[in-house]
Amino acid sequence: MRAVTVRPLVTGSLEVRDVPDPVPGRGELLVEGLAVGVCGTDKEIVAGEYGWAPSGQEHLVLGHESLGRVRHAPPGTGFDTGDLVVGVVRRPDPVPCGACAHGEFDMCRNGRYTERGIKQRDGYAARLWTVESDYVVRLDAALRDVGVLMEPTTVVAKAWEQIERVGGRAWFEPRRVLVTGAGPIGLLAALLGVQRGLDVHVLDRVTTGPKPGLVRDLGATYHSGDSDQVISSLRPDVVIEATGAASLVFDAMAGTDTYGIVCLTGVSPKGRQLSVDAGTLNRQLVLENDVVVGSVNANLRHYRQAADALAKADQGWLERMITRRVPLEKAGVAFTAQDDDIKVVISLTEDR
Ligand code: BGC
Repeated sequence: MRAVTVRPLVTGSLEVRDVPDPVPGRGELLVEGLAVGVCGTDKEIVAGEYGWAPSGQEHLVLGHESLGRVRHAPPGTGFDTGDLVVGVVRRPDPVPCGACAHGEFDMCRNGRYTERGIKQRDGYAARLWTVESDYVVRLDAALRDVGVLMEPTTVVAKAWEQIERVGGRAWFEPRRVLVTGAGPIGLLAALLGVQRGLDVHVLDRVTTGPKPGLVRDLGATYHSGDSDQVISSLRPDVVIEATGAASLVFDAMAGTDTYGIVCLTGVSPKGRQLSVDAGTLNRQLVLENDVVVGSVNANLRHYRQAADALAKADQGWLERMITRRVPLEKAGVAFTAQDDDIKVVISLTEDR
Protein backbone atom coordinates (compact mmCIF):
# COMPACT_ATOMS: atom_id res chain seq x y z
CA MET A 1 0.00 0.00 0.00
CA ARG A 2 1.02 3.62 -0.50
CA ALA A 3 2.29 5.73 2.39
CA VAL A 4 4.07 9.03 2.96
CA THR A 5 7.47 8.33 4.51
CA VAL A 6 10.61 10.19 5.57
CA ARG A 7 14.02 9.20 6.83
CA PRO A 8 14.04 11.24 10.06
CA LEU A 9 16.68 13.95 10.29
CA VAL A 10 17.46 13.56 6.56
CA THR A 11 16.43 16.66 4.60
CA GLY A 12 14.65 15.99 1.31
CA SER A 13 13.87 12.35 2.21
CA LEU A 14 10.06 12.65 1.83
CA GLU A 15 8.66 9.95 -0.47
CA VAL A 16 5.27 8.52 -1.35
CA ARG A 17 6.06 4.84 -1.75
CA ASP A 18 4.87 1.26 -1.33
CA VAL A 19 5.19 -0.22 2.13
CA PRO A 20 3.86 -3.60 3.33
CA ASP A 21 0.17 -3.66 4.31
CA PRO A 22 -0.15 -3.48 8.10
CA VAL A 23 -1.39 -6.61 9.87
CA PRO A 24 -3.64 -5.95 12.88
CA GLY A 25 -2.46 -7.54 16.12
CA ARG A 26 -4.77 -8.90 18.83
CA GLY A 27 -7.46 -6.35 19.74
CA GLU A 28 -6.40 -4.01 16.95
CA LEU A 29 -8.57 -2.37 14.30
CA LEU A 30 -7.75 -2.26 10.61
CA VAL A 31 -8.59 1.21 9.31
CA GLU A 32 -8.78 2.70 5.83
CA GLY A 33 -7.01 6.08 5.94
CA LEU A 34 -9.20 8.93 4.66
CA ALA A 35 -7.05 11.99 5.34
CA VAL A 36 -4.21 13.41 7.39
CA GLY A 37 -3.65 17.01 8.36
CA VAL A 38 -0.27 18.72 8.09
CA CYS A 39 1.04 20.84 10.94
CA GLY A 40 4.25 22.64 11.93
CA THR A 41 5.65 19.46 13.50
CA ASP A 42 5.22 17.57 10.19
CA LYS A 43 7.00 20.39 8.37
CA GLU A 44 9.90 20.19 10.85
CA ILE A 45 10.10 16.44 10.31
CA VAL A 46 10.07 16.87 6.53
CA ALA A 47 12.77 19.54 6.83
CA GLY A 48 14.97 16.97 8.64
CA GLU A 49 14.84 18.80 11.96
CA TYR A 50 12.73 16.45 14.13
CA GLY A 51 11.36 12.91 14.24
CA TRP A 52 12.50 9.39 15.10
CA ALA A 53 11.95 6.18 13.07
CA PRO A 54 10.66 3.06 14.87
CA SER A 55 13.58 1.07 16.27
CA GLY A 56 15.30 -1.02 13.61
CA GLN A 57 13.68 0.95 10.76
CA GLU A 58 15.18 3.58 8.50
CA HIS A 59 11.83 5.12 7.51
CA LEU A 60 8.99 6.68 9.49
CA VAL A 61 5.46 6.81 8.07
CA LEU A 62 4.36 10.41 8.66
CA GLY A 63 1.01 11.69 9.87
CA HIS A 64 -0.43 12.22 13.34
CA GLU A 65 -3.61 14.21 12.50
CA SER A 66 -5.66 11.25 11.32
CA LEU A 67 -9.09 10.40 9.99
CA GLY A 68 -10.10 6.93 8.88
CA ARG A 69 -12.93 4.45 8.41
CA VAL A 70 -12.89 1.10 10.17
CA ARG A 71 -12.47 -1.77 7.74
CA HIS A 72 -12.33 -4.50 10.36
CA ALA A 73 -12.89 -4.42 14.12
CA PRO A 74 -12.54 -7.50 16.33
CA PRO A 75 -15.71 -8.35 18.30
CA GLY A 76 -15.89 -6.84 21.76
CA THR A 77 -13.86 -3.72 20.90
CA GLY A 78 -16.97 -1.53 20.67
CA PHE A 79 -16.18 -0.54 17.06
CA ASP A 80 -17.92 -1.59 13.84
CA THR A 81 -16.96 -1.70 10.21
CA GLY A 82 -17.68 1.70 8.66
CA ASP A 83 -17.15 3.75 11.86
CA LEU A 84 -15.43 7.11 11.36
CA VAL A 85 -12.40 7.15 13.67
CA VAL A 86 -9.34 9.12 14.71
CA GLY A 87 -6.21 7.48 16.12
CA VAL A 88 -4.56 8.84 19.26
CA VAL A 89 -1.04 10.28 18.76
CA ARG A 90 0.84 9.42 21.94
CA ARG A 91 1.45 6.12 23.78
CA PRO A 92 2.63 5.88 27.39
CA ASP A 93 6.29 5.30 28.15
CA PRO A 94 7.21 1.66 28.91
CA VAL A 95 8.30 2.21 32.52
CA PRO A 96 5.64 3.72 33.01
CA CYS A 97 6.13 7.00 34.87
CA GLY A 98 3.42 8.00 37.35
CA ALA A 99 1.59 10.24 34.87
CA CYS A 100 1.56 7.57 32.14
CA ALA A 101 0.44 4.96 34.70
CA HIS A 102 -2.57 7.20 35.39
CA GLY A 103 -3.56 7.58 31.71
CA GLU A 104 -2.03 11.07 31.58
CA PHE A 105 0.56 10.19 28.95
CA ASP A 106 0.31 13.74 27.60
CA MET A 107 2.09 14.70 30.86
CA CYS A 108 4.80 12.00 30.58
CA ARG A 109 7.62 12.71 33.04
CA ASN A 110 10.52 10.73 31.63
CA GLY A 111 10.23 11.65 27.93
CA ARG A 112 10.17 7.99 26.86
CA TYR A 113 6.65 8.25 25.39
CA THR A 114 6.21 7.40 21.71
CA GLU A 115 4.07 9.22 19.11
CA ARG A 116 2.48 7.99 15.87
CA GLY A 117 4.07 9.72 12.89
CA ILE A 118 6.56 11.60 15.09
CA LYS A 119 8.48 9.52 17.58
CA GLN A 120 9.34 5.84 17.07
CA ARG A 121 5.91 4.77 15.77
CA ASP A 122 4.64 4.82 12.20
CA GLY A 123 1.97 7.40 11.56
CA TYR A 124 -1.37 7.55 9.81
CA ALA A 125 -0.42 8.94 6.36
CA ALA A 126 -1.12 5.60 4.67
CA ARG A 127 -3.98 3.96 2.79
CA LEU A 128 -4.35 1.47 5.63
CA TRP A 129 -3.36 1.61 9.27
CA THR A 130 -3.87 -0.44 12.37
CA VAL A 131 -4.55 0.86 15.86
CA GLU A 132 -5.12 -0.56 19.33
CA SER A 133 -8.82 -0.31 20.24
CA ASP A 134 -7.85 1.65 23.40
CA TYR A 135 -6.17 4.39 21.39
CA VAL A 136 -8.83 5.26 18.84
CA VAL A 137 -11.93 7.43 19.13
CA ARG A 138 -15.19 7.27 17.16
CA LEU A 139 -16.47 10.46 15.55
CA ASP A 140 -19.98 11.48 14.59
CA ALA A 141 -20.51 10.30 10.97
CA ALA A 142 -21.46 13.89 10.02
CA LEU A 143 -17.79 14.89 10.57
CA ARG A 144 -16.54 13.03 7.46
CA ASP A 145 -15.26 16.21 5.80
CA VAL A 146 -13.84 17.96 8.87
CA GLY A 147 -12.96 15.14 11.29
CA VAL A 148 -9.31 15.53 10.30
CA LEU A 149 -9.36 18.65 12.51
CA MET A 150 -9.85 16.42 15.55
CA GLU A 151 -6.20 16.11 16.66
CA PRO A 152 -5.48 19.87 16.74
CA THR A 153 -8.82 20.23 18.56
CA THR A 154 -7.61 17.77 21.23
CA VAL A 155 -4.54 19.97 21.72
CA VAL A 156 -6.71 23.04 22.40
CA ALA A 157 -9.19 21.04 24.51
CA LYS A 158 -6.24 20.15 26.73
CA ALA A 159 -5.02 23.77 26.77
CA TRP A 160 -8.48 24.97 27.89
CA GLU A 161 -8.61 22.27 30.56
CA GLN A 162 -5.20 23.39 31.85
CA ILE A 163 -6.38 27.01 31.99
CA GLU A 164 -9.54 26.07 33.88
CA ARG A 165 -7.64 23.90 36.34
CA VAL A 166 -4.98 26.56 36.96
CA GLY A 167 -7.69 29.22 37.30
CA GLY A 168 -9.62 26.96 39.67
CA ARG A 169 -6.94 27.35 42.36
CA ALA A 170 -8.87 30.46 43.54
CA TRP A 171 -12.04 32.30 42.50
CA PHE A 172 -12.03 32.37 38.70
CA GLU A 173 -14.53 33.91 36.35
CA PRO A 174 -12.62 34.88 33.20
CA ARG A 175 -14.36 37.15 30.70
CA ARG A 176 -11.88 38.16 28.06
CA VAL A 177 -9.49 35.87 26.20
CA LEU A 178 -6.87 36.75 23.64
CA VAL A 179 -5.61 34.13 21.21
CA THR A 180 -2.36 35.01 19.47
CA GLY A 181 -2.08 33.48 15.99
CA ALA A 182 -4.97 32.62 13.67
CA GLY A 183 -3.57 29.33 12.37
CA PRO A 184 -5.45 26.07 13.04
CA ILE A 185 -4.54 25.96 16.76
CA GLY A 186 -5.44 29.63 17.29
CA LEU A 187 -8.75 29.37 15.42
CA LEU A 188 -9.77 26.17 17.22
CA ALA A 189 -8.76 27.72 20.58
CA ALA A 190 -10.98 30.69 19.68
CA LEU A 191 -13.84 28.34 18.76
CA LEU A 192 -13.64 26.61 22.15
CA GLY A 193 -13.48 30.03 23.86
CA VAL A 194 -16.66 31.15 22.07
CA GLN A 195 -18.31 27.85 23.01
CA ARG A 196 -17.55 28.77 26.64
CA GLY A 197 -19.38 32.08 26.24
CA LEU A 198 -16.22 34.22 26.54
CA ASP A 199 -15.36 37.52 24.86
CA VAL A 200 -12.76 36.19 22.39
CA HIS A 201 -10.12 38.27 20.57
CA VAL A 202 -7.66 36.91 18.01
CA LEU A 203 -4.43 38.62 16.99
CA ASP A 204 -2.58 37.77 13.78
CA ARG A 205 -0.30 39.60 11.36
CA VAL A 206 -2.41 39.27 8.19
CA THR A 207 -5.13 41.68 7.14
CA THR A 208 -6.31 39.78 4.04
CA GLY A 209 -7.22 36.16 3.23
CA PRO A 210 -9.66 33.91 5.11
CA LYS A 211 -8.51 34.49 8.71
CA PRO A 212 -10.26 37.80 9.57
CA GLY A 213 -13.60 36.51 8.21
CA LEU A 214 -13.32 33.20 10.06
CA VAL A 215 -12.72 35.04 13.34
CA ARG A 216 -15.61 37.45 12.73
CA ASP A 217 -17.98 34.60 11.78
CA LEU A 218 -17.26 32.97 15.14
CA GLY A 219 -18.52 36.11 16.84
CA ALA A 220 -14.97 36.97 17.98
CA THR A 221 -12.91 40.14 17.31
CA TYR A 222 -9.94 40.16 14.92
CA HIS A 223 -6.87 42.35 15.55
CA SER A 224 -3.81 42.82 13.35
CA GLY A 225 -2.10 45.79 14.98
CA ASP A 226 0.98 46.08 17.15
CA SER A 227 0.87 43.19 19.64
CA ASP A 228 2.07 45.22 22.62
CA GLN A 229 -0.68 47.81 22.06
CA VAL A 230 -3.42 45.24 21.42
CA ILE A 231 -2.54 43.26 24.56
CA SER A 232 -2.19 46.28 26.82
CA SER A 233 -5.49 47.77 25.65
CA LEU A 234 -7.37 44.46 26.09
CA ARG A 235 -5.82 43.36 29.43
CA PRO A 236 -7.14 39.81 28.86
CA ASP A 237 -7.79 37.40 31.72
CA VAL A 238 -6.46 34.55 29.58
CA VAL A 239 -4.04 34.41 26.66
CA ILE A 240 -3.62 31.33 24.52
CA GLU A 241 -0.35 31.80 22.65
CA ALA A 242 -0.30 29.83 19.41
CA THR A 243 2.58 31.35 17.43
CA GLY A 244 5.70 30.49 19.44
CA ALA A 245 7.01 33.97 18.53
CA ALA A 246 9.28 35.00 21.42
CA SER A 247 8.25 38.67 21.53
CA LEU A 248 4.54 37.79 21.60
CA VAL A 249 5.13 35.32 24.42
CA PHE A 250 6.70 38.03 26.59
CA ASP A 251 4.15 40.70 25.58
CA ALA A 252 1.43 38.25 26.67
CA MET A 253 3.12 37.50 30.00
CA ALA A 254 3.38 41.20 30.79
CA GLY A 255 -0.05 42.22 29.47
CA THR A 256 -2.64 40.06 31.22
CA ASP A 257 -5.01 41.35 33.86
CA THR A 258 -4.32 40.39 37.49
CA TYR A 259 -4.64 36.64 38.16
CA GLY A 260 -3.90 36.26 34.44
CA ILE A 261 -3.12 32.97 32.78
CA VAL A 262 -0.95 32.62 29.69
CA CYS A 263 -1.10 29.19 28.08
CA LEU A 264 1.78 28.54 25.68
CA THR A 265 1.04 26.08 22.85
CA GLY A 266 3.44 27.19 20.10
CA VAL A 267 6.70 25.29 19.67
CA SER A 268 9.38 27.79 18.69
CA PRO A 269 12.71 27.08 17.06
CA LYS A 270 15.65 27.06 19.47
CA GLY A 271 18.10 29.95 19.61
CA ARG A 272 15.71 32.91 19.44
CA GLN A 273 17.24 35.62 21.63
CA LEU A 274 15.39 38.50 23.16
CA SER A 275 16.28 41.11 25.72
CA VAL A 276 13.69 41.23 28.53
CA ASP A 277 13.42 43.20 31.76
CA ALA A 278 13.33 40.09 33.92
CA GLY A 279 12.98 42.14 37.11
CA THR A 280 9.77 43.87 35.98
CA LEU A 281 8.37 40.65 34.57
CA ASN A 282 9.01 38.69 37.76
CA ARG A 283 7.55 41.52 39.83
CA GLN A 284 4.36 41.56 37.73
CA LEU A 285 3.90 37.79 37.83
CA VAL A 286 4.31 37.73 41.60
CA LEU A 287 2.25 40.81 42.46
CA GLU A 288 -0.61 39.73 40.15
CA ASN A 289 -0.62 35.99 40.98
CA ASP A 290 -0.13 35.36 37.25
CA VAL A 291 0.61 31.94 35.76
CA VAL A 292 2.36 30.91 32.57
CA VAL A 293 1.63 27.30 31.65
CA GLY A 294 2.96 25.23 28.76
CA SER A 295 0.66 22.65 27.16
CA VAL A 296 1.34 19.90 24.61
CA ASN A 297 -0.41 16.81 23.28
CA ALA A 298 -3.65 15.33 24.68
CA ASN A 299 -4.93 12.27 26.49
CA LEU A 300 -8.14 10.30 25.89
CA ARG A 301 -10.22 12.67 28.03
CA HIS A 302 -9.25 15.52 25.69
CA TYR A 303 -10.15 13.41 22.63
CA ARG A 304 -13.67 13.03 24.04
CA GLN A 305 -13.90 16.77 24.79
CA ALA A 306 -12.67 17.57 21.27
CA ALA A 307 -15.18 15.21 19.63
CA ASP A 308 -18.00 17.02 21.50
CA ALA A 309 -16.66 20.48 20.58
CA LEU A 310 -16.43 19.57 16.88
CA ALA A 311 -19.90 18.02 16.83
CA LYS A 312 -21.35 21.27 18.31
CA ALA A 313 -19.47 23.57 15.90
CA ASP A 314 -20.76 24.96 12.60
CA GLN A 315 -19.57 22.37 10.06
CA GLY A 316 -19.36 24.96 7.28
CA TRP A 317 -17.04 27.11 9.42
CA LEU A 318 -14.80 24.10 10.14
CA GLU A 319 -14.74 23.25 6.43
CA ARG A 320 -13.47 26.78 5.64
CA MET A 321 -10.46 26.15 7.88
CA ILE A 322 -9.32 23.45 5.45
CA THR A 323 -7.91 25.67 2.74
CA ARG A 324 -6.12 23.04 0.61
CA ARG A 325 -6.56 19.31 -0.04
CA VAL A 326 -3.69 17.52 -1.75
CA PRO A 327 -3.91 13.99 -3.21
CA LEU A 328 -1.66 11.34 -1.63
CA GLU A 329 0.55 10.97 -4.70
CA LYS A 330 1.35 14.69 -4.57
CA ALA A 331 1.81 14.79 -0.77
CA GLY A 332 5.12 16.67 -1.09
CA VAL A 333 3.40 19.94 -2.03
CA ALA A 334 1.43 19.92 1.21
CA PHE A 335 4.57 20.76 3.20
CA THR A 336 5.38 23.97 1.32
CA ALA A 337 3.39 26.91 2.65
CA GLN A 338 1.21 28.87 0.23
CA ASP A 339 -0.45 32.24 0.77
CA ASP A 340 -3.69 31.97 2.73
CA ASP A 341 -3.05 28.40 3.89
CA ILE A 342 -4.72 27.56 7.17
CA LYS A 343 -5.02 23.77 7.39
CA VAL A 344 -3.61 21.72 4.54
CA VAL A 345 -4.85 18.14 4.31
CA ILE A 346 -3.54 15.13 2.38
CA SER A 347 -6.42 13.03 0.97
CA LEU A 348 -5.67 9.34 1.25
CA THR A 349 -8.59 8.12 -0.88
CA GLU A 350 -9.66 8.88 -4.42
CA ASP A 351 -13.18 10.03 -3.56
CA ARG A 352 -12.16 13.40 -2.07
C1 BGC B 1 1.36 17.22 18.12
C2 BGC B 1 1.40 16.69 19.53
C3 BGC B 1 2.80 16.20 19.85
C4 BGC B 1 3.80 17.32 19.61
C5 BGC B 1 5.24 16.95 19.93
C6 BGC B 1 2.43 18.26 17.94
O1 BGC B 1 2.42 18.69 16.63
O2 BGC B 1 0.09 17.80 17.86
O3 BGC B 1 0.47 15.64 19.66
O4 BGC B 1 2.86 15.80 21.19
O5 BGC B 1 3.70 17.72 18.26
O6 BGC B 1 5.74 15.86 19.21
